[in-house]
Amino acid sequence: MSGFPGFDYRNNALHVESVSLTQIAEEFGTPCYVYSRAALTSAYQEFEDAFAQREHLICYAVKANSNIAILNLLVRLGSGFDIVSGGELQRVIKAGGDPQKTVFSGVGKNADEMRMALAANILCFNVESLAELLLLNQIAGDMNKIAPVSLRVNPDVDAKTHPYISTGLKENKFGVPVEEAERIYQTAQQFPHIRFTGLDCHIGSQLTELGPFKQASEKMINLLAQLQSQGLKIEHLDLGGGLGIRYTDETPPSIKDYVATLCASTSQVTQRILIEPGRAMIGNAGLLLTRTEYLKHTPDRNFAVVDAAMNDLLRPALYGAYHDILPAKKNNTALQTHDYQIVGPICETGDFLGHDRKLNLTHGDLLAVMSAGAYGMSMASNYNTRSRPAEVLVDGDTVYLIRQRETIEQLFATETIVP
Ligand code: LLP
Repeated sequence: MSGFPGFDYRNNALHVESVSLTQIAEEFGTPCYVYSRAALTSAYQEFEDAFAQREHLICYAVKANSNIAILNLLVRLGSGFDIVSGGELQRVIKAGGDPQKTVFSGVGKNADEMRMALAANILCFNVESLAELLLLNQIAGDMNKIAPVSLRVNPDVDAKTHPYISTGLKENKFGVPVEEAERIYQTAQQFPHIRFTGLDCHIGSQLTELGPFKQASEKMINLLAQLQSQGLKIEHLDLGGGLGIRYTDETPPSIKDYVATLCASTSQVTQRILIEPGRAMIGNAGLLLTRTEYLKHTPDRNFAVVDAAMNDLLRPALYGAYHDILPAKKNNTALQTHDYQIVGPICETGDFLGHDRKLNLTHGDLLAVMSAGAYGMSMASNYNTRSRPAEVLVDGDTVYLIRQRETIEQLFATETIVP
């Protein structure tokens, strides 16, 4: 067992569903992101099943993995979407997603993005400041439209996660303070092209405890009651994303328990509940497949230089994030086990995928960097003029190429030499 559903050893060879990683590497090359359709479908279904007794909408956070094939699978499962840019809106539309199931988050929506989203008739704008509300009112007016709006509130709750991905503390840039929400709703009564339909929050990502979700939901419920007593009609309550996954030995709540907690904390209200999960949907449905280029033994360290790097998967370098690294073929017992530093070819010491991993390796061995389905490819870059990896989706015994490996010509296509 690999410990990750959908990814298992068969005859000592790591398989994604029914396909071995060796076969995928031969056919599509490395580095390569590999996703399991079954793992994605089962995570989505777990969310749906847990919400069965409650009016709800799951708005998958597109930023976690925005490949159009992945979005299209979610469309077919009935998902809505949480977007943070005009580009993500275009991806949702291209994937066949329903704008009426799409919410638009983010602190810096620009005028063009607002126009595009109004033209597409999205479900609502999750507005994060009075200044944004003013601009949206003006643009909606120009387009002779009424913008549906939810106010993103910052509940000032400690998500107990990495500081870079904690968003619900009062010192963070996100949302408006709870104490200001009422005043903003009142002020906005004078904005003829705004209609408030919701209230939302998002306190952070990779949360491994239920407590902060509970606290945030309770604060939101209190605010909702206060706003309703002022005569405001709120149709939905959006509790954001943030449920963590297991990368190594974390014990995050199950999807079922997480949803049950949200439902219990909001049991006294009748509003439709929205959530915006990203990582919990796709994180453990994907891995990054890489090949060992060189083994380098120095008196201090053993390095395995692989063909994937921080440009392909930034999380270790950026957050010190831990990803399990598994051999595509096990039990190569003829080789000595070493504590390997798994590093990429990029010219930075921060370019590593894992430290001190006990592995027995030889030149050319394939390694699987696990739990890379979320915030992997979507954060990849071209640093060191490296083309971004291919992405494939496994469905049973079939492998689909869902993004070609980028070519160097594509990288150069937008650059011009001056006369
Ligand atoms: N909703 C909003 C408004 C968000 O900002 C985010 C994530 C989500 C939903 C989805 O959160 P999730 O369910 O995936 O935790 N690059 C980082 C994660 C950044 C998360 C940003 N916002 C990482 O690799 O850990």
